[in-house]
Amino acid sequence: MAFRAIVLGAAAGGGLPQWNCGCPNCCLARAGKIPSLTQSSLAVSADGQNWAVLNASPDIRMQIAATPQLHPTDLRESPIKSVLVTNGDIDHVAGLLSLREQQPFDLFATGEIHSVLADNPLFAALAADKVPRAQVTLGAAVEIVPGLTAELFPVPGKVPLYLEGETVQTDLEGEQTVGVHLRCDGQDIYYIPGCATVTDRLAKRIKGAAMVFFDGTLWQDDEMVLAGLGSKTGRRMGHISMSGPEGSIAVFETLDIGEKIFVHMNNTNPVLRPDSQERADAQAAGWRIAQDGMEIAL
Ligand code: MLT
Ligand code: MN
Ligand code: ZN
Repeated sequence: MAFRAIVLGAAAGGGLPQWNCGCPNCCLARAGKIPSLTQSSLAVSADGQNWAVLNASPDIRMQIAATPQLHPTDLRESPIKSVLVTNGDIDHVAGLLSLREQQPFDLFATGEIHSVLADNPLFAALAADKVPRAQVTLGAAVEIVPGLTAELFPVPGKVPLYLEGETVQTDLEGEQTVGVHLRCDGQDIYYIPGCATVTDRLAKRIKGAAMVFFDGTLWQDDEMVLAGLGSKTGRRMGHISMSGPEGSIAVFETLDIGEKIFVHMNNTNPVLRPDSQERADAQAAGWRIAQDGMEIAL
């Protein structure tokens, strides 16, 4: 048993290019000058045969098609044995609808996320007798595929955009936004695609881990405002920035993590341009920038 992961989609919600976006990165991607990216998802396995998909993005159909390890092994047999979602955001759950078709797999999430899904009748397309909804208690490890356990823990975040009320708490810690602590063969791996801030508790938890996949949504907090794309800051969206004194690059500096990989990049993020100074800076600090199809093994 040895941990392996495939980045199915490295972009945040919207992807690169985003359908309605004319920002420089989206234009470069449309012109084929930088790689396009699909939306946030990671496939993980301990044996290379049985796979769990962490977050089901709206692009999952083409992500599976592009990934030979996830192709059917028989008439109606899929190597995907389970799906785990870390929040109720559209980029992480809409792909569940493409996984109907009478295929059995386990669906793991917290109780609160399961109730968000249960409140939406569309998800009844995943018949309960084929796709059992496994409620994961925070802090309790479950085996998601043979040889690989997942423990969910709260990370600062917010409720999904479509459930936001008049006021929104963006550093809520509970069942709405979680990180995943994967254990395989005695190694600790973390998957945290959405995180508003790295609290002391979170820093302590991930310190010394073999590998961390982490929220790489924005380079800087006001990136989308500066790009003229709207008024929302990263903070308001529940996403920490890479740069700055409280950014993830600075905060991770002392955490002694084996492999640091940014995932869930928004299409405005300058690290998505191969020749950018920001990408060089992130790499110099020991980070890898995920790409669709990137395979990583321990
Ligand atoms: C996010 O990560 O902030 C959400 O996916 C945004 C969205 O729902 O589009
Ligand atoms: Mn997202
Ligand atoms: Zn764009």
